[in-house]
Amino acid sequence: MRAPKTNDQLEPTVFVIFGGAGDLTWRKLIPSLFDLHRDGRMPKKFAIMAVDRAHFRDADLHKRLLDGVKQFSRDRNVKSADWKKFASHVTYQQGDFKDPATYSTLEKGCAKLDEAWKVKAVQIFHMATPPVMFGIIPRLLADAGLNRDRERARIVVEKPIGHDLRSARELNRVLTESFHESQIFRIDHYLGKETVQNILAFRFANPLFEPIWNRHYVDYVSITVAEEVGVEHRGRYYDQVGALRDMVQNHLMQLLCLVAMEPMVSFNADEIRNKKVDVLHGVRPIRRDEVGECAVRGQYGNGSLDGKKVRGYSQEDDVSPHSKTETFVALKLFVDNWRWQGVPFYLRTGKRLPQQISEVAIQFRTVPHQSFPPEAHRNWHPARLVLSIQPDEGIVLGFQAKYPGPKMLLRPVEMRFSYNESFAIPSPDAYETLLWDVMNTDPTLFMRADQVEAAWQILMPVLEVWADSSPRNFPNYAAGTWGPNATEKLLARDDHPWEPLA
Ligand code: BG6
Repeated sequence: MRAPKTNDQLEPTVFVIFGGAGDLTWRKLIPSLFDLHRDGRMPKKFAIMAVDRAHFRDADLHKRLLDGVKQFSRDRNVKSADWKKFASHVTYQQGDFKDPATYSTLEKGCAKLDEAWKVKAVQIFHMATPPVMFGIIPRLLADAGLNRDRERARIVVEKPIGHDLRSARELNRVLTESFHESQIFRIDHYLGKETVQNILAFRFANPLFEPIWNRHYVDYVSITVAEEVGVEHRGRYYDQVGALRDMVQNHLMQLLCLVAMEPMVSFNADEIRNKKVDVLHGVRPIRRDEVGECAVRGQYGNGSLDGKKVRGYSQEDDVSPHSKTETFVALKLFVDNWRWQGVPFYLRTGKRLPQQISEVAIQFRTVPHQSFPPEAHRNWHPARLVLSIQPDEGIVLGFQAKYPGPKMLLRPVEMRFSYNESFAIPSPDAYETLLWDVMNTDPTLFMRADQVEAAWQILMPVLEVWADSSPRNFPNYAAGTWGPNATEKLLARDDHPWEPLA
């Protein structure tokens, strides 16, 4: 990780956002850039060019973007002066992403800014577009010569990186034909979350837990990313993708890497990324005949959440009424190395679950010998450490304590660290961190090509088996419940329960 520059040191920068009129720009990119600007963390000279097919005047685009900033920026109380200052940097360019003319106009626009600023500016090309464009835009940028400056030209790619191993390889090939790997920033926004970055801090800045962070003390690890929301307005995208591709291949795999990786020697981007890729290379390949045993898929049907009726997935807008797309996945993996041999890692994620909650739980083994009288440990629970990613950002350690009174009785209790209570400042949005890192040319929190491919490689047998056998029992969980019954069995086979979430 490079030392971040102050905004005086940041070079003049042009952000080109393909998909400038789209949802991601409205919801995430502009609110994050606005927050950075308001905090004085944008370069002294910068421009944002939003490019999209629709026809907009700058003023109309600004109106739409302000609406997003009011809803999604850190401090929603947006002062008009702050917005005006920021918006004066934002322009709109109408253009077809497939048309070379779009890129020559862009090239001219960038050259004009260089001339006005009397400097060669950094150019960041952010593909906030549907994935089909990821293979087209880099080539056309290269044809227009916008890839050439290895130090200054950068390209940002959103997930999903491919649809399977083959298409991910193909996309990585297209990207690296046009840009050098050091110019490519593949976003997985989970890596920008404070609590996700804190996994490394907690593990490697404290000597406390690392000695027991292994097969000798850890019974199993569960990683949960549960969402209350359904597919919202993204039915068309989601129905082609499903939970395994949308969440497990990227976000859950990243969490697995951070929890299971070996200590890095230095805080160097490639050193950290190497250690993470090692975890993926250690994941025991799933045989096709084992898929039924170690993977569960589900789709939500009608149900209720927070006392309101909720329609089933196949009735959502832009979703096929006969859809066989999974909205829930549970998976059991093993990491075959010295540290983790024999320790199951259970991963689960789903939409329309009862609570929005993401956490990593480390379940420790029970004590080797019970020296207390039997009545002392009637409520016995082995120690459990929960890294809570969201919404209650923090860490909870559950352990045994003596219950007050004359007898030796034990009860589970908790020690809690909460971000809100310990730090007086709000956490930045993940995109703020990531866009700031792109400006600083720091790739630590971005996915490298080999990591993306290694994650696909692990999941391919599951994808193939699921593609070959259409599920007959969908929908198999009601909206507002914790997923299909088969998920319980996945753990019960190993005598492990899904512990209640923190
Ligand atoms: C996105 C997925 O990557 O992550 C969405 O495409 C999902 O389907 C979202 O809802 C979850 O992100 P977060 O930050 O809300 O947990």
